[in-house]
Amino acid sequence: MRLLFLGDVMGRSGRAAVAARLADLRARLRADFCVVNAENATNGAGISADHARALLQAGADVLTLGDHAFDQRDMIQFVEAEPRVLRPLNYAKAAPGRGARVYAAQNGAKVLVAQVLGQVFMKRPFADPFAAIDPVLAAAPLGGQVQAALVDMHCEATSEKMAMGHHCDGRASVVVGTHTHIPTADVQILPGGTAYQTDAGMCGDYLSVIGMDKAEPMRRFVAGMPKGRFEPARGEATLCGLLVETDDATGRAVAAHMVREGGRLEPTEP
Ligand SMILES: [Fe+2]
Ligand SMILES: [Fe+2]
Repeated sequence: MRLLFLGDVMGRSGRAAVAARLADLRARLRADFCVVNAENATNGAGISADHARALLQAGADVLTLGDHAFDQRDMIQFVEAEPRVLRPLNYAKAAPGRGARVYAAQNGAKVLVAQVLGQVFMKRPFADPFAAIDPVLAAAPLGGQVQAALVDMHCEATSEKMAMGHHCDGRASVVVGTHTHIPTADVQILPGGTAYQTDAGMCGDYLSVIGMDKAEPMRRFVAGMPKGRFEPARGEATLCGLLVETDDATGRAVAAHMVREGGRLEPTEP
């Protein structure tokens, strides 16, 4: 099967790009299943129920969240009511919703999707993501319960993401990083058959500081004087992510390609 993953949807420009282009992108890439990280879709901070509905309507099969999962308060109820939205497995003991679920793709295949948060350089502590993912992968073995499995590793440190890739190698079809909003050029298939990219990048305006209008971050970095709030940049978004082709019998990745579409970043294929 062909799995499409898109990184953190950033504000209005990210939502608009997904709404305008995801259906066409899915068709062109012949994607059977599409997972979108949506943790910054509402003004850069979390995602509202209305915006989650819009991204699902636009062609996402599943939305993952992140450290900003519940910045929009109505997500606390919505994540319980909408099984296509996942929060991180290790967000908090009392967090509503779920961090992993098995879904049916358009071609009938079963796909496990899970999200974990890392611990390095994050603003608050989270439980061990390596211990959190093990029972989830054990309950949905590739080539058995599921035909494919995707793990969204949401964190800051490249080292921790690579370690998660190796930890899941052979047990997940895809491990992809999110949270930094900058795509890394290290798409590869690990020896056990897991497709891996340290960070998918964002669906947002790259004339920015990680998706935010550059004025306020520049004031803080250059002058050291905060003045206002961070606001998402408003220019055209680049859709950034990863397309992985897997073998349904084994769940292993057989091909993996970086995806970049529209906006300022160069496309990955000439
Ligand atoms: Fe994040
Ligand atoms: Fe993010």
